[in-house]
Amino acid sequence: MKKSTFYITTPIYYVNDSPHIGHAYTTIACDILARWHRLKGLDVFYLTGTDEHGAKILEAAKNHGQDPKAFCDKIAEEFKSAWKNLRVTNDSFIRTTDPQHEKTVQDFLDKLFRAGTIYKGKYEGLYCVQCEKFLLESDLVEGLCPDHKSKPKQHSEENHFFALKKYREELIDIISSGQMQILPPERKNEILGKLKTGLEDISISRAALEWGIPLPFDKEQTAYVWVDALLNYISGIGYGNNSELFNKFWPANLHLMAKDILWFHTIIWPSMLMAAGLPLPKKVFAHGFFTINGDKMSKTLGNVILPHEMTEKFGVDATRYLTVSLFPFGSDGDISWQALIDKYNSELANNLGNLAARTLTMVHKYNNGLVPDKPDSKTPWSANILTGLSSAETQLENLNFYGFSISMKATLDKINQYIEDSAPWKMAKENNPNLPEVLFNLIQSLGIVAVYLLPFMPEISRQIWDCIGETGSLEDLAKEFLKNRDKDTLKFPHPGNLTKKSKIMFPRIDKK
Ligand code: MSP
Repeated sequence: MKKSTFYITTPIYYVNDSPHIGHAYTTIACDILARWHRLKGLDVFYLTGTDEHGAKILEAAKNHGQDPKAFCDKIAEEFKSAWKNLRVTNDSFIRTTDPQHEKTVQDFLDKLFRAGTIYKGKYEGLYCVQCEKFLLESDLVEGLCPDHKSKPKQHSEENHFFALKKYREELIDIISSGQMQILPPERKNEILGKLKTGLEDISISRAALEWGIPLPFDKEQTAYVWVDALLNYISGIGYGNNSELFNKFWPANLHLMAKDILWFHTIIWPSMLMAAGLPLPKKVFAHGFFTINGDKMSKTLGNVILPHEMTEKFGVDATRYLTVSLFPFGSDGDISWQALIDKYNSELANNLGNLAARTLTMVHKYNNGLVPDKPDSKTPWSANILTGLSSAETQLENLNFYGFSISMKATLDKINQYIEDSAPWKMAKENNPNLPEVLFNLIQSLGIVAVYLLPFMPEISRQIWDCIGETGSLEDLAKEFLKNRDKDTLKFPHPGNLTKKSKIMFPRIDKK
């Protein structure tokens, strides 16, 4: 039987900045979802990459005294290596300077030009290079771009326009009906509200900007960087050159990004696709923006957090877990070292790490380190754990990583409480015949927790798996388990296997 597919994307990141924790936020979230859907047995394609054309990148390259391509090569490598260090499992990495992408952009725009949805006109207006977009007088705050606090440049030129306005009714239809889902719901309402106030055609080329892709029908002009960038989602899966791959994965199941760029993804992108007669993405999810200690993250304030600063402190797996679960995903939130350390100490070091260490120590003390026989119980303890974790799973399906961490914490608390209530140390003293059952249940609980944490913390999960004496592939087991878990088919742990005492998984971090 043909496997179902799941195509998921991050935005492609501008290379004027080195990768920071804001980029990592979206990239890790996508990675968790990609891994989760692979475990559920879907054929996943996860795409990320870099956005390398436009005035902003040209300016950054000049500031560094570098040729733009050499500059882009350097920063694109930084992104690739940051994602590799964070164990991100993207299936491909697209750069908008890839020749294949450039050709796709030209072919696509040519198609729209020949179909009459691109026409020549004159543009006059205010342009913010940092946003790479035109602003209206009414967008400005005291004459400045509200996001970048810089004065937009007056810009006037003849260029090419895309007939965006004519898709307005259709956009209202596909968004209201949920044919293209926008989440969270308040973002959908926001976009619909804005759409209902009107829509203007947009300029899709620049006359005096060399650092861009030349238009096939007017070599004096280059493609507007946003039009170029959005097309990565189809060029990255072979549109125009690998129809098998393209037909397998398009339309995307999920475009994930922060709310700052939702308009481009829910208005301009679907209109471009409609103009080319292509199906629309199924879901667009906008997460919130975070601040650092209440301030916008910025080089000027010197409060930018880099991924390696986090991994040096917390390790890779804990960084992945903490980054996405500090506050609800759809909302804005604040990140501080203090809050990260608190969550790390309470949920990972004290709760999970301690549970694993206690369990394994007791198995060594009271059962020579061996997994006891499977208890012959009609109401297996594992049912408790599975019920708790099914709510974690729902949270994960809804992209609520914070909610997942709350449900996971509740489950870990329940297991820790089970230890307190059954008191294996007392049972051992009293030669209580139920002691092996308690130990078995604890080991099994750790195995179940490892399955659910696998998309978040792949190495820690494997470490737990190894410690409970399992030798098979945790991925294979997890797939099998997620398929059959309604039946009582837990195939682990294996009685008689030798468990290992774990090295400290999450060393406590001193607050100071
Ligand atoms: N190049 C465009 C996207 C083109 S996609 C066709 C762009 N790039 S960007 O480098 O500015 O990245 C924006 C994305 O980075 C946001 O949508 C978000 O995913 C992520 N974030 C950057 N800073 C962030 C925060 N402080 N908080 C949350 N997300 C952050 O826009």
